[in-house]
Amino acid sequence: MRTEDAADGKSTANGGGVVCQEGGVTVLRPTDLSEMLAAGTKEVHEKAENTEFVKDFLRGRIRKELFKLGHVALYFTYSAMEEEMERNKEHPDLAALYFPHELHRWDALARDLQYFYGEDWQDQISLSPATQRYVERIQQIGRDQPALLVAHAYTRYMGDLSGGQVLRKVAQRAMKLPPTGEGLNFYQFDGIHSAKAFKQLYRSRMNELELDSHTKQKIVEEAVLAFQFNMEIFGELEEVGKSLQGDVLDAAPVHGAHGAHGE
Ligand code: HEM
Repeated sequence: MRTEDAADGKSTANGGGVVCQEGGVTVLRPTDLSEMLAAGTKEVHEKAENTEFVKDFLRGRIRKELFKLGHVALYFTYSAMEEEMERNKEHPDLAALYFPHELHRWDALARDLQYFYGEDWQDQISLSPATQRYVERIQQIGRDQPALLVAHAYTRYMGDLSGGQVLRKVAQRAMKLPPTGEGLNFYQFDGIHSAKAFKQLYRSRMNELELDSHTKQKIVEEAVLAFQFNMEIFGELEEVGKSLQGDVLDAAPVHGAHGAHGE
Protein backbone atom coordinates (compact mmCIF):
# COMPACT_ATOMS: atom_id res chain seq x y z
CA MET A 1 0.00 0.00 0.00
CA ARG A 2 3.00 2.26 0.00
CA THR A 3 2.91 5.07 -2.45
CA GLU A 4 6.13 5.75 -4.20
CA ASP A 5 5.91 9.38 -4.80
CA ALA A 6 8.50 11.27 -6.75
CA ALA A 7 7.20 14.54 -5.34
CA ASP A 8 8.19 13.18 -1.95
CA GLY A 9 11.71 12.53 -3.15
CA LYS A 10 11.04 8.84 -3.61
CA SER A 11 11.44 6.66 -6.63
CA THR A 12 8.61 5.95 -8.98
CA ALA A 13 8.46 2.62 -10.76
CA ASN A 14 10.74 3.31 -13.65
CA GLY A 15 12.25 0.23 -15.08
CA GLY A 16 15.05 -0.57 -12.70
CA GLY A 17 13.60 1.78 -10.12
CA VAL A 18 15.84 4.71 -10.89
CA VAL A 19 14.46 8.19 -10.83
CA CYS A 20 16.18 11.30 -11.94
CA GLN A 21 14.10 14.27 -11.00
CA GLU A 22 13.71 16.80 -13.78
CA GLY A 23 16.04 19.68 -13.19
CA GLY A 24 18.67 17.42 -11.72
CA VAL A 25 17.80 18.12 -8.10
CA THR A 26 17.87 14.54 -6.87
CA VAL A 27 19.16 11.46 -8.56
CA LEU A 28 18.21 8.21 -6.91
CA ARG A 29 19.86 4.96 -7.84
CA PRO A 30 18.92 1.38 -6.94
CA THR A 31 22.19 1.25 -4.97
CA ASP A 32 21.13 4.15 -2.75
CA LEU A 33 20.41 2.92 0.73
CA SER A 34 17.00 4.65 0.83
CA GLU A 35 15.99 2.83 -2.32
CA MET A 36 17.38 -0.48 -1.15
CA LEU A 37 15.48 -0.16 2.12
CA ALA A 38 12.20 0.80 0.45
CA ALA A 39 12.47 -2.10 -2.00
CA GLY A 40 13.85 -4.61 0.49
CA THR A 41 11.11 -4.03 3.08
CA LYS A 42 8.19 -3.74 0.66
CA GLU A 43 7.02 -7.28 1.19
CA VAL A 44 7.37 -7.30 4.98
CA HIS A 45 5.71 -3.88 5.12
CA GLU A 46 2.67 -5.33 3.39
CA LYS A 47 2.64 -8.17 5.90
CA ALA A 48 2.79 -5.68 8.77
CA GLU A 49 -0.08 -3.70 7.29
CA ASN A 50 -2.14 -6.84 7.21
CA THR A 51 -1.76 -7.94 10.80
CA GLU A 52 -5.06 -8.02 12.70
CA PHE A 53 -3.83 -5.63 15.34
CA VAL A 54 -2.87 -2.99 12.80
CA LYS A 55 -6.03 -3.47 10.75
CA ASP A 56 -8.20 -3.16 13.86
CA PHE A 57 -6.32 -0.06 14.90
CA LEU A 58 -6.95 1.59 11.55
CA ARG A 59 -10.65 0.72 11.76
CA GLY A 60 -10.77 2.56 15.07
CA ARG A 61 -11.29 -0.68 16.95
CA ILE A 62 -8.80 0.08 19.66
CA ARG A 63 -9.02 -1.39 23.10
CA LYS A 64 -7.54 1.01 25.55
CA GLU A 65 -5.74 -1.73 27.44
CA LEU A 66 -4.06 -2.89 24.24
CA PHE A 67 -3.20 0.64 23.21
CA LYS A 68 -1.53 1.13 26.59
CA LEU A 69 0.41 -2.12 26.24
CA GLY A 70 1.44 -1.11 22.73
CA HIS A 71 2.76 2.12 24.17
CA VAL A 72 4.69 0.20 26.84
CA ALA A 73 6.35 -1.87 24.11
CA LEU A 74 7.20 1.29 22.20
CA TYR A 75 8.61 2.89 25.35
CA PHE A 76 11.07 0.05 25.92
CA THR A 77 11.95 -0.17 22.24
CA TYR A 78 12.63 3.55 21.82
CA SER A 79 14.51 3.71 25.13
CA ALA A 80 16.90 1.05 23.87
CA MET A 81 17.19 2.47 20.37
CA GLU A 82 17.76 6.04 21.48
CA GLU A 83 20.23 4.98 24.16
CA GLU A 84 22.26 3.08 21.56
CA MET A 85 22.01 5.98 19.08
CA GLU A 86 23.21 8.34 21.79
CA ARG A 87 26.13 6.10 22.69
CA ASN A 88 27.13 5.80 19.03
CA LYS A 89 26.29 9.33 17.94
CA GLU A 90 29.81 10.03 16.75
CA HIS A 91 30.13 6.79 14.85
CA PRO A 92 30.70 7.70 11.17
CA ASP A 93 27.96 5.31 10.00
CA LEU A 94 25.37 6.97 12.22
CA ALA A 95 26.34 10.56 12.98
CA ALA A 96 24.46 11.99 9.98
CA LEU A 97 21.24 10.39 11.23
CA TYR A 98 21.45 11.77 14.74
CA PHE A 99 18.39 14.04 15.17
CA PRO A 100 17.53 13.87 18.86
CA HIS A 101 15.51 17.08 18.94
CA GLU A 102 13.45 16.22 15.89
CA LEU A 103 12.94 12.49 16.29
CA HIS A 104 13.49 11.12 19.73
CA ARG A 105 10.33 9.61 21.22
CA TRP A 106 11.45 8.46 24.65
CA ASP A 107 10.26 11.55 26.47
CA ALA A 108 6.94 11.71 24.59
CA LEU A 109 6.27 8.06 25.43
CA ALA A 110 7.14 8.60 29.08
CA ARG A 111 4.60 11.46 29.24
CA ASP A 112 1.94 9.32 27.56
CA LEU A 113 2.54 6.46 30.00
CA GLN A 114 2.29 8.82 32.93
CA TYR A 115 -1.06 9.98 31.58
CA PHE A 116 -2.36 6.42 31.18
CA TYR A 117 -0.90 4.77 34.28
CA GLY A 118 -0.39 7.67 36.71
CA GLU A 119 2.62 8.91 38.66
CA ASP A 120 3.90 5.43 39.48
CA TRP A 121 3.76 4.30 35.84
CA GLN A 122 7.31 2.96 35.96
CA ASP A 123 6.34 0.45 38.64
CA GLN A 124 3.40 -0.76 36.60
CA ILE A 125 5.05 -1.60 33.31
CA SER A 126 7.22 -4.51 32.25
CA LEU A 127 8.85 -5.92 29.15
CA SER A 128 6.82 -8.48 27.21
CA PRO A 129 8.80 -11.42 25.78
CA ALA A 130 8.67 -10.08 22.19
CA THR A 131 9.68 -6.61 23.33
CA GLN A 132 12.54 -8.11 25.29
CA ARG A 133 13.84 -9.88 22.17
CA TYR A 134 13.59 -6.66 20.14
CA VAL A 135 15.39 -4.66 22.85
CA GLU A 136 18.14 -7.26 23.23
CA ARG A 137 18.78 -7.19 19.50
CA ILE A 138 19.04 -3.40 19.48
CA GLN A 139 21.45 -3.49 22.42
CA GLN A 140 23.55 -6.20 20.84
CA ILE A 141 24.01 -4.37 17.54
CA GLY A 142 24.58 -1.10 19.41
CA ARG A 143 27.58 -2.83 20.95
CA ASP A 144 28.84 -4.95 18.07
CA GLN A 145 27.60 -3.53 14.74
CA PRO A 146 26.41 0.07 15.21
CA ALA A 147 25.90 0.59 11.46
CA LEU A 148 22.88 -1.72 11.71
CA LEU A 149 21.16 0.74 14.02
CA VAL A 150 20.36 2.63 10.82
CA ALA A 151 17.87 -0.13 10.03
CA HIS A 152 16.05 0.21 13.33
CA ALA A 153 15.93 3.99 13.16
CA TYR A 154 14.64 3.82 9.58
CA THR A 155 11.93 1.27 10.37
CA ARG A 156 10.49 3.17 13.29
CA TYR A 157 11.05 6.86 12.54
CA MET A 158 10.20 6.76 8.84
CA GLY A 159 7.13 4.74 9.69
CA ASP A 160 6.09 7.11 12.47
CA LEU A 161 6.54 10.10 10.19
CA SER A 162 4.47 8.45 7.47
CA GLY A 163 1.34 7.81 9.48
CA GLY A 164 1.48 9.55 12.83
CA GLN A 165 -1.17 12.17 12.28
CA VAL A 166 -3.74 9.72 10.99
CA LEU A 167 -3.15 7.30 13.84
CA ARG A 168 -3.32 10.11 16.32
CA LYS A 169 -6.81 11.03 15.09
CA VAL A 170 -7.98 7.43 15.04
CA ALA A 171 -6.75 6.83 18.59
CA GLN A 172 -8.08 10.11 19.93
CA ARG A 173 -11.58 9.49 18.58
CA ALA A 174 -11.74 5.82 19.42
CA MET A 175 -10.63 6.24 23.01
CA LYS A 176 -12.19 9.67 23.44
CA LEU A 177 -8.92 11.16 24.56
CA PRO A 178 -8.71 14.91 25.10
CA PRO A 179 -8.21 16.88 21.87
CA THR A 180 -5.37 18.68 23.65
CA GLY A 181 -3.18 15.64 23.03
CA GLU A 182 -2.73 13.96 26.42
CA GLY A 183 -1.79 10.33 25.86
CA LEU A 184 -0.92 11.04 22.23
CA ASN A 185 2.44 12.77 22.51
CA PHE A 186 4.10 9.88 20.74
CA TYR A 187 2.47 10.94 17.46
CA GLN A 188 3.41 14.57 17.83
CA PHE A 189 6.79 15.60 16.39
CA ASP A 190 7.11 19.14 17.68
CA GLY A 191 10.53 19.64 16.12
CA ILE A 192 9.34 18.78 12.60
CA HIS A 193 7.24 21.19 10.54
CA SER A 194 6.89 19.05 7.44
CA ALA A 195 7.10 15.27 7.75
CA LYS A 196 7.44 15.03 4.00
CA ALA A 197 10.43 17.38 3.86
CA PHE A 198 12.05 15.72 6.85
CA LYS A 199 11.71 12.26 5.32
CA GLN A 200 13.40 13.60 2.20
CA LEU A 201 16.26 14.95 4.30
CA TYR A 202 16.53 11.66 6.18
CA ARG A 203 16.67 9.68 2.93
CA SER A 204 19.38 11.90 1.53
CA ARG A 205 21.36 11.59 4.76
CA MET A 206 21.08 7.78 4.55
CA ASN A 207 22.30 7.93 0.96
CA GLU A 208 25.30 10.04 1.87
CA LEU A 209 26.62 7.51 4.41
CA GLU A 210 29.83 5.97 3.22
CA LEU A 211 28.89 2.33 3.32
CA ASP A 212 30.04 -0.55 1.18
CA SER A 213 27.47 -2.67 -0.58
CA HIS A 214 27.84 -5.54 1.88
CA THR A 215 27.01 -3.25 4.84
CA LYS A 216 24.05 -1.75 2.95
CA GLN A 217 22.74 -5.25 2.33
CA LYS A 218 23.13 -6.09 6.01
CA ILE A 219 21.17 -2.95 6.91
CA VAL A 220 18.32 -4.00 4.62
CA GLU A 221 18.28 -7.46 6.23
CA GLU A 222 18.24 -5.85 9.66
CA ALA A 223 15.31 -3.65 8.65
CA VAL A 224 13.34 -6.74 7.64
CA LEU A 225 14.16 -8.13 11.07
CA ALA A 226 12.99 -4.89 12.70
CA PHE A 227 9.63 -5.18 10.93
CA GLN A 228 9.41 -8.77 12.15
CA PHE A 229 10.06 -7.71 15.74
CA ASN A 230 7.24 -5.21 15.41
CA MET A 231 4.93 -7.88 14.03
CA GLU A 232 5.80 -10.20 16.90
CA ILE A 233 4.67 -7.49 19.28
CA PHE A 234 1.43 -7.06 17.32
CA GLY A 235 0.94 -10.82 17.60
CA GLU A 236 1.37 -10.67 21.35
CA LEU A 237 -1.11 -7.82 21.60
CA GLU A 238 -3.61 -9.81 19.54
CA GLU A 239 -3.26 -12.68 22.00
CA VAL A 240 -3.78 -10.38 24.98
CA GLY A 241 -6.79 -8.91 23.16
CA LYS A 242 -8.42 -12.32 22.95
CA SER A 243 -8.33 -12.62 26.71
CA LEU A 244 -9.80 -9.17 27.32
CA GLN A 245 -13.52 -8.78 27.76
CA GLY A 246 -15.43 -5.77 26.47
CA ASP A 247 -13.59 -2.51 26.14
CA VAL A 248 -14.00 -2.58 22.36
CA LEU A 249 -14.61 0.77 20.87
CA ASP A 250 -16.11 0.96 17.44
CA ALA A 251 -15.31 4.32 16.04
CA ALA A 252 -15.87 5.35 12.47
CA PRO A 253 -12.49 5.33 10.76
CA VAL A 254 -11.02 8.71 10.10
CA HIS A 255 -10.95 9.83 6.50
CA GLY A 256 -7.65 8.91 4.94
CA ALA A 257 -6.83 6.26 7.51
CA HIS A 258 -5.25 4.11 4.81
CA GLY A 259 -1.91 5.84 5.17
CA ALA A 260 -1.35 5.15 8.82
CA HIS A 261 1.13 3.18 10.80
CA GLY A 262 0.71 0.52 13.42
CA GLU A 263 2.19 0.71 16.84
C1 HEM B 1 5.97 4.16 4.59
C2 HEM B 1 1.33 2.86 4.94
C3 HEM B 1 2.37 0.03 8.74
C4 HEM B 1 7.04 1.28 8.39
C5 HEM B 1 4.63 4.07 4.38
C6 HEM B 1 3.89 4.82 3.38
C7 HEM B 1 2.59 4.46 3.47
C8 HEM B 1 2.49 3.49 4.52
C9 HEM B 1 1.42 4.97 2.63
C10 HEM B 1 4.49 5.75 2.36
C11 HEM B 1 4.68 7.08 2.94
C12 HEM B 1 5.48 7.95 2.02
O1 HEM B 1 5.91 7.52 0.96
O2 HEM B 1 5.70 9.07 2.39
C13 HEM B 1 1.22 1.98 6.00
C14 HEM B 1 -0.02 1.38 6.43
C15 HEM B 1 0.28 0.60 7.51
C16 HEM B 1 1.70 0.69 7.74
C17 HEM B 1 -1.36 1.60 5.79
C18 HEM B 1 -0.62 -0.25 8.35
C19 HEM B 1 -1.84 -0.55 8.04
C20 HEM B 1 3.73 0.12 9.00
C21 HEM B 1 4.44 -0.55 10.06
C22 HEM B 1 5.74 -0.18 9.96
C23 HEM B 1 5.86 0.71 8.82
C24 HEM B 1 3.78 -1.46 11.09
C25 HEM B 1 6.94 -0.58 10.83
C26 HEM B 1 6.86 -0.92 12.06
C27 HEM B 1 7.15 2.13 7.30
C28 HEM B 1 8.40 2.69 6.83
C29 HEM B 1 8.09 3.52 5.76
C30 HEM B 1 6.66 3.47 5.56
C31 HEM B 1 9.78 2.40 7.40
C32 HEM B 1 9.07 4.33 4.90
C33 HEM B 1 9.27 3.65 3.59
C34 HEM B 1 10.29 4.35 2.74
O3 HEM B 1 10.01 5.46 2.31
O4 HEM B 1 11.39 3.82 2.56
N1 HEM B 1 3.74 3.27 5.06
N2 HEM B 1 2.23 1.53 6.80
N3 HEM B 1 4.63 0.86 8.27
N4 HEM B 1 6.13 2.62 6.51
FE1 HEM B 1 4.20 2.08 6.67
